[in-house]
Amino acid sequence: MTIIEPFKIKSVEPIRFTTREQRVEMLKNAAYNPFLLHADDVLIDLLTDSGTTAMSALQWSGIMNGDEAYAGSRSYYRFENVLRALTGFTHIIPTHQGRAAEKILFSLVGGAGKVIPNNTHFDTTRANIEYSGAVAVDLLNAVGKQPSVRADFKGNMDIDALVALIERVGVENVPLVMVTVTNNSGGGQPVSMANIKAVRAVCDTYKLPLFLDACRFAENAMFIKMREPGYENVSVRDIAHEMFSLADGATMSAKKDGMVNTGGFLAMHDGALAERARTVLIVTEGFPTYGGLARRDLEAMAQGLEEVLEEDYLRYRLRSVEYFGDKLRAAGVPILEPTGGHAVYLDAKRFAPHIPPSQFPGQAISCAIYLEGGIRGVEIGSLMFGTTNEQGEHVGPDMELVRLAIPRRVYTQSHIDYCSEVIINVYNQRESLRGMKLTYEAEYLRHFTARLEYVE
Ligand code: F0G
Repeated sequence: MTIIEPFKIKSVEPIRFTTREQRVEMLKNAAYNPFLLHADDVLIDLLTDSGTTAMSALQWSGIMNGDEAYAGSRSYYRFENVLRALTGFTHIIPTHQGRAAEKILFSLVGGAGKVIPNNTHFDTTRANIEYSGAVAVDLLNAVGKQPSVRADFKGNMDIDALVALIERVGVENVPLVMVTVTNNSGGGQPVSMANIKAVRAVCDTYKLPLFLDACRFAENAMFIKMREPGYENVSVRDIAHEMFSLADGATMSAKKDGMVNTGGFLAMHDGALAERARTVLIVTEGFPTYGGLARRDLEAMAQGLEEVLEEDYLRYRLRSVEYFGDKLRAAGVPILEPTGGHAVYLDAKRFAPHIPPSQFPGQAISCAIYLEGGIRGVEIGSLMFGTTNEQGEHVGPDMELVRLAIPRRVYTQSHIDYCSEVIINVYNQRESLRGMKLTYEAEYLRHFTARLEYVE
């Protein structure tokens, strides 16, 4: 049976159609960086699943019901109760989004000489760690770096590499270990419960805290239910609770599985660290019962964190992403296998093998998809993570990807059918794709503001 959207639509928003001639002009004005396009000039926006969720009627009514007290707001206590029940963490510190939680955490535990391992750091996590003077290390297991190989838990951390890293840099230089669920930069791939337990065991041996980057914890929990033996009959809520119970703390951007347009949190058991975190919070974000948010946003988050655990929703969510991937694969389009929780990733190395990583094949594809059908995706490859070494040579990441992220509860199956057709058209003309070069780059997170042009 077809797995249908487990909701009906109460409020709609028009999207704007443009001509190819208009898009050629608009992309040129955006310096060939889709981040610099006006969203009104995008027909279907798959730039991110972050903060783009359609909220439910109950969330919107929560917005009206929010208690805007500066201190001690009822909405904060509802938010705290929901998160305590879900995660078990003692201290729940709201922040305006995920990177604010990262900034607070790493300003306290980071700094020169420190090393922070993760399965794969998301770009803002890496940037916050590096900004503190510390080093961010990715320890993804080998299969996670092979886009064409299908495996159940390609987000898993390489446990031997974790032990080797701790031994090499010295346990005193590792303030904590982080695991990102699902592994966004590695293709939205899940991490198994067995792997989280194995990381926990290493942390126990070395007496290190384990923090989850929990942005997409519910999608990860649903993958565990569907794929990991022994969890078939466990509720997603219990699986999520078990994941959190293995950790000492978490950062989360609730703009993903919190089902809201803005919000996040930092949570932990350690009372002394929480006190220092709250002090930074007050200086940089706001009072501990609102953390840079309107209190109504806490209300929407509390409701969103309940709704995201509905298994009909999660089954539809994972299936709709898989459906998109199935259509592309059937036409021969190379994608990262298997499809992840929140996005389909095009494998740019196989899609445009004639463009070297130093000429940003993912960016070339991403621009072509916009020109062809007004769809916006994002390059996750050499533009986002590449650097130039001392010899002036390009050093790129393992994978060159284009992420097509699916906002939660926003697009229907016919939108996805259209997207598949556009991408298949681009793939069928792939020989005409041209490499690109940078004309401007910022010091940190250059992909957001980079300016590019085509190579002659
Ligand atoms: N960690 C992960 C795994 C993320 O995917 C993101 C954001 C963050 C942390 C930071 O959260 O944006 O609320 O500050 N990812 C978005 C994306 C931006 O498009 O994947 P934030």
